[in-house]
Amino acid sequence: MGLTGAHAELLQKVDLFAGLDRMALAQVAAFVEAVAVEGGSTIFRQGEPGDALFIVARGRFGVFVALPESNTEVRLATLSPGDVFGEMALLTDEPRSATVRSEDGTGELLKLERSRFFELVRREPALIHSIAGTLIRRLQANAQLILQSEHFIVSVVEGALGRVDPARRRQILEASVLDDVGPEALAALFGADAAEVARTLGECGIVPGQPAGPVLRILRERLERELGAEYWQEFAQTAAGHLAEAGLWSAALPLYARHAPRDVFIAALGRGVRAAPPPAPEQIAPWLDRTSDEEVAQDVDLALAKAALYEERGAPAAALLLLERALGAALTDQRALDARRLSDEIARLTLATGAEPAGALQYGLQPARARRVFRPGTRALLVGVALAFAAAAFAVPAPPARFGLLLAAAVVLWVIDVLPNAAVSLLLLASWILTGLTDIGGATAGFGSTNWLFVLALLGIAAAIARSGLLFRIGLLLIRRMPQGLFWQAGTLLLTGVLLGPFLPVAMGRAALTAPLALGVAQALRLEDREPAAAVLGLASWIGAGPMLFAFLNASPACLLAWGLLPAATRQRFDWVQWLIAAAPLALLIGVGSLIALFLVFRPRTRAVLARDRLALQLAVLGPPSQRELAMAAVLLLTVAGWLAAPRLGLDAGTVAILGVLAAFLTGNLDGRSLRDLDWNYLIFYGVALSVSGLMGALGIERLLSDTARTFLADLGITPATFVLLIAVMSLLAAVAIGEQTVLLLGLAVVPIASAIGVSPWVAVMAILATVVYWLIPATTPEYLVAHAAAEGRLYSHAQAQRAALAHVAVVLAALALAVPFWRYLGLM
Ligand code: CMP
Repeated sequence: MGLTGAHAELLQKVDLFAGLDRMALAQVAAFVEAVAVEGGSTIFRQGEPGDALFIVARGRFGVFVALPESNTEVRLATLSPGDVFGEMALLTDEPRSATVRSEDGTGELLKLERSRFFELVRREPALIHSIAGTLIRRLQANAQLILQSEHFIVSVVEGALGRVDPARRRQILEASVLDDVGPEALAALFGADAAEVARTLGECGIVPGQPAGPVLRILRERLERELGAEYWQEFAQTAAGHLAEAGLWSAALPLYARHAPRDVFIAALGRGVRAAPPPAPEQIAPWLDRTSDEEVAQDVDLALAKAALYEERGAPAAALLLLERALGAALTDQRALDARRLSDEIARLTLATGAEPAGALQYGLQPARARRVFRPGTRALLVGVALAFAAAAFAVPAPPARFGLLLAAAVVLWVIDVLPNAAVSLLLLASWILTGLTDIGGATAGFGSTNWLFVLALLGIAAAIARSGLLFRIGLLLIRRMPQGLFWQAGTLLLTGVLLGPFLPVAMGRAALTAPLALGVAQALRLEDREPAAAVLGLASWIGAGPMLFAFLNASPACLLAWGLLPAATRQRFDWVQWLIAAAPLALLIGVGSLIALFLVFRPRTRAVLARDRLALQLAVLGPPSQRELAMAAVLLLTVAGWLAAPRLGLDAGTVAILGVLAAFLTGNLDGRSLRDLDWNYLIFYGVALSVSGLMGALGIERLLSDTARTFLADLGITPATFVLLIAVMSLLAAVAIGEQTVLLLGLAVVPIASAIGVSPWVAVMAILATVVYWLIPATTPEYLVAHAAAEGRLYSHAQAQRAALAHVAVVLAALALAVPFWRYLGLM
């Protein structure tokens, strides 16, 4: 059934969701499903197991409980649109506490499946507060009713207990520890007496398989009064032990949860997971849901079981996060075997689903670095190599050699990732000063440059945008207006990624944003997971968001780093506008070429038209843009206009960006917290990288490089055009080997050489930027992993992506060759 604007209004009015902001609510909209109900039909009956929560969209619904003493029903409440029901069973795993029936005419419900509900709670913990409120109000109302029937029940129970001897009476009281008095459970507690106990319980009104809330409560209270609370707790724990021994985990676990200290409960849950024969998953899963990741991380089996549950529910990123945490705990306690099992599972999960820890999905502002996996031995060896380089640097007298050795040591450390990037960068900086290559002023010059401030400002703008919800809205609007025809749809997604460049200047952030949009389109087209058309949409959005970052000067810190490496004169020439003009043909060729390549590789069948209802619903839930959002939009437009006009105003792009960040602060789109959350690790690395380039010039290394290269390349007969292609190939290889450091290292090397053989350094760095985000080996490209995970792995598999990556190389090399005449025309070659 379709979702409409009316549903959007409804979702905004639901008490349960009152604590959620509109972005979160729009995500809820993607989770619910509308169900039509006929008048008089029963939604569920008291005592049934519960697996979903409902929101009344239309019609009236009655909530009824059966009274224990008679066959009559009492109305607890009447629910109208906006009310929620079915939450109790979902949260407590008790059977449905009441029957719900539709009353007048046809009605409509929005259904939220159990697993989706928990997924939502995981993302929006604030939900728990409002649910607790609803629960407590309802429980209070029900308590009233209980009081009324209490009197009658007490007399029945008294009668039954009066007819048995004291020993049996005590057993009956003790049996009330059980939520369900099934024969196996009674046998586990009372052995040969079980049958007799069951009979007397029956006289009190308790029969197996039926909810007996009030009677149990009365028995429990009596036991507590007569034997004391302490005895009660102790008995409950002993009983839980017996039940667990008998393999009755669904009876034992609630007792541990209610009556034992938390750690005893967790330990029992661990025994449950390890039990042989293993209990059915539904006996354990509800209790795993009630644990925090932190609690289970200490126990490998629990951690593995809970991670499996996450994975089953389509949240591999959460699974991975938990496994990594458990691995951390295992390593701290030196549990080698456990660590082994966990890392095997992490490897399997990463390969199977391409998941990345959930943190990376927060619009990628804190990029989770894809860690290259080195065996401890290899890693130790590489650390040794780095140390040897560093030691040699202190020994050699020639400054250029010393500089090169120190840089080599830093590169090794960057690549093996033993220390954060920032720490290695600072180490490099310190080593220059200690070896007398430069003084503190020279070493930190990078941080004082406008480039550095430019990047700082850009990351700030990115943070402000991610917080405002603006791009999410623009994305939704865009796919709503999506043209018909798969080619154009894929093209729109690709173009969106490219055009977002100056607005969200972090490739990972764009990937995290456009991948869900592509998923939305695929769902609206009713495509199957990973079918060719889905792969085309997903990979088109990825290529636009990631590999095409070269189109704008400020589409990525990598571009700005490359820009920072250019000689001052070249930098002067390539302001924001000139960069765009010179890069446009290459971008056009690669964009169109990739689309054609994707169609050739996957040969998708085109299909039905877009179903736009859910998109419309998500938009409607977002509502009209808030003042803050509008202000952010204005700030962005002004900033981009500023970049366009900067040359004429005599400003540079960095200054414009800084004014933009200021405006974001003043309009409340940025605050101290978001500033703290910037990727400082990268910013520190970036500052040192700029110093590296300055130092190379000061030490005369650039001249050295260009002189040697000039003769060498001339001897080999390398023309400017082949030089550009050569750089591209080296960059592809380097991207796989040393990842994100490619721009810095290859850039440092090719900039001086390029001028020497008559190629503008700008063209040289362009060849690097066009190839540096290369995803042939997924694990080495964090941006790609984020795109894949943000599409929940449902649009394409890694194998499909790898086929596309191969085709993409061909496209990029051809496009570079085709762009050469244009660059010649611009006088760049
Ligand atoms: P659940 O126990 O899953 O199934 C029956 C539902 O009836 C229950 O969740 C609540 O959502 C709802 N319910 C129970 N008691 C009340 C009450 N007093 N008022 C309104 N709704 C109730």
